[in-house]
Amino acid sequence: MSTDRDTATGSDRHTEHAPGPGTGTGTGTDQAAARSARAFGALYGVPPDGVWSAPGRVNVIGEHTDYNDGFALPMALPQTTRVAARRRDDGVLRLHSALDGGRVTELRVADLTPGAVTGWARYPAGTVWALAEAGHPVGGADLHIDSTVPTGAGLSSSAALECAVAVAYDDLYGLGLSRPALARIAQRAENGFAGVPCGIMDQMASLCCAEGAALHLDSRTLEHHQVPFDLAAHDLALLVLDTRVQHDLGDGAYAALRAGCERAAGLLGLPALRDLPADRLREALGALPAEAVPLVRHVVTENARVTEAAARLAAGDTPALGPLLTAGHASLRDDFRVSCAETDLAVDAALAAGALGARMTGGGFGGSVIALVPAALADPVAAAVTAAFTRAGHHRPSVLTAVPSRGAARLC
Ligand code: GLA
Repeated sequence: MSTDRDTATGSDRHTEHAPGPGTGTGTGTDQAAARSARAFGALYGVPPDGVWSAPGRVNVIGEHTDYNDGFALPMALPQTTRVAARRRDDGVLRLHSALDGGRVTELRVADLTPGAVTGWARYPAGTVWALAEAGHPVGGADLHIDSTVPTGAGLSSSAALECAVAVAYDDLYGLGLSRPALARIAQRAENGFAGVPCGIMDQMASLCCAEGAALHLDSRTLEHHQVPFDLAAHDLALLVLDTRVQHDLGDGAYAALRAGCERAAGLLGLPALRDLPADRLREALGALPAEAVPLVRHVVTENARVTEAAARLAAGDTPALGPLLTAGHASLRDDFRVSCAETDLAVDAALAAGALGARMTGGGFGGSVIALVPAALADPVAAAVTAAFTRAGHHRPSVLTAVPSRGAARLC
């Protein structure tokens, strides 16, 4: 999606994806933490107080429902953003990204103002700003940031960065905030500091997901449940096909959709579209102006698909997710109109090659497609999508296999 938003650690190169650092418990993670600590020491001349990480995500289903107070079912990826950090007591915030050359950005926490910081530094600076704005007693820190979350792929690299900084600050300053409270802080950084009117799903996924599970999220209350998502047990794999089409969620289209949904809820006399039950949909659509109809239909049917998907997973019927994914994509393509030629092609080619279901994931207008495939078909499906992109003259998609992983954590 967003060039800017997802260029969260300063890299504008696309990451051809190497396997991630593991699901968080193995030696890969220990080594990555040690590398971050060493890089911090080399840069700042002292060891960090600790190293924290937060993952990117894919949303299994429940798209454009979060800002309608609805439901979603994201899972964390093994790809993470790591922050090595050391508290400072002079109010200075120093930021460095391993993916952004040698530059260190130096700011004063007391001077942080929306609009004053640009590029990837908006996300860590915005998180500190949001903590201070909420009245938490936070000061400065030195941060060294590194990431394996692909940028510009709609996999929430910006949320991973905000959430890694949020958990680091929570520990450095002994704040004791809950994960949902930290998610609100990270969302506030995006909305109030970086100027992106996103919902809460990405931040909740990055902070609250668990290994081997998808997160059944109620975006109104922030109640959440882990739903077992054991792909291997069913001989399945979840492919992530990055179309490499990037779109800026801050450019107005996302905000316009959000405003359209809020207007429709107002016309129906509801606090949010989440409050429209599926059995009142037909009657409600008859009362709305034509332009609101497809938006409302998508949100209401998508919420129902999330409920159904969570039930199927809880019942151990993982393959039954497939048709729900494909139906979700049709709704995003035809009603919400946030797909594009490349995401539609990736979905169609994956299905034709034997995927059980496929859909775009994230905000849309590009970004990534997920495909649920029998494990034995993972390579053929990826090859079929790549061949279809070549024939159509599109960039070669990059492919990774999504493994449901844990949320943000302190590594050392
Ligand atoms: C982006 C936003 C999320 C959510 C999705 C669409 O990822 O950051 O809050 O709205 O789009 O489901």
